Amino acid sequence: MSEVYLDGRFIPLEEARVPVMDRGFLFGDGVYEVIPVYGGCPFRLSQHMERLDNSLRSIRMENPLPLKGWRRIFTRLIDPATDGDRLLYLQLTRGVDRTRNHLFPQDVDPTVLVMTWGLGPRNPDIAATGVFAVVLEDNRWHRCDIKATALLGNVLLRQEAEDAAATEAILVRDGLVTEGSSTNPFVVRSGEILTPPASNQLLRGVTRDLVLELACGAALPCAERPIARDELEAADEIWISSSSREVQPITRLDGKPVGTGVPGPEWRRIDRLFQDYKARLGAGAT
Ligand code: PDD
Repeated sequence: MSEVYLDGRFIPLEEARVPVMDRGFLFGDGVYEVIPVYGGCPFRLSQHMERLDNSLRSIRMENPLPLKGWRRIFTRLIDPATDGDRLLYLQLTRGVDRTRNHLFPQDVDPTVLVMTWGLGPRNPDIAATGVFAVVLEDNRWHRCDIKATALLGNVLLRQEAEDAAATEAILVRDGLVTEGSSTNPFVVRSGEILTPPASNQLLRGVTRDLVLELACGAALPCAERPIARDELEAADEIWISSSSREVQPITRLDGKPVGTGVPGPEWRRIDRLFQDYKARLGAGAT
């Protein structure tokens, strides 16, 4: 039975309960993080915790735990000997109020949840054939830089992609690519790797930033700049990145082949750099 951390206690998942007056339940008033764990080590932990602090600050909440406290929880929940690669999920809500009131309650403690689940082995089909995406209009709010638990917009878009036999929706607002429903997109055009610049219209992915860092480190041409929908549609390669999906090649967009219709050479190169970086984790990288 898997164990979770909820408000100071380690308990079996089946026993974890949150009151109905929790503002996360009533309003989606909370933030979260998803952190990969490879070989027992949380991946890019300081970047994830920094983003958590940014999200909390944006919704005017304080981080209730110092990094040492978070680490203690993660260590208890991760057993490197038996667990394999995992995802850590952290969620904080504004807490439990006495009445349903939109205004922030005074003097309540945040609800803090940490749980973890297995990542499973890499699916070899992804490198062989890639995954499919559709382009959808980004109809979400204008604070997509906050990793908010209120994900209804993202959920509806992801389901619309699934209904069109695609694994991701690549979103476009005012003719420009923003992000995926739960990933960041990359476009390769004439050998240059492009991704939209960080703004309030997208979540700045920790994986995205690592991809840029690895590309720069290998002297691959790359840039953060606005990408028009027609540039996306004419791309040689498209990739998506996230903590749970790493970097995946998109080989069909709206039913049409991307480039040659198979995972491209630039994706193979970045995937190799990514896998090598992960392997170095065991040697002390973070
Ligand atoms: N999603 N954009 C959105 C909207 C996301 O939800 C995510 C991650 C990303 C990529 O961020 P990162 O590389 O830091 O994982 C971009 C997580 C994995 C989720 O909600 O499950």
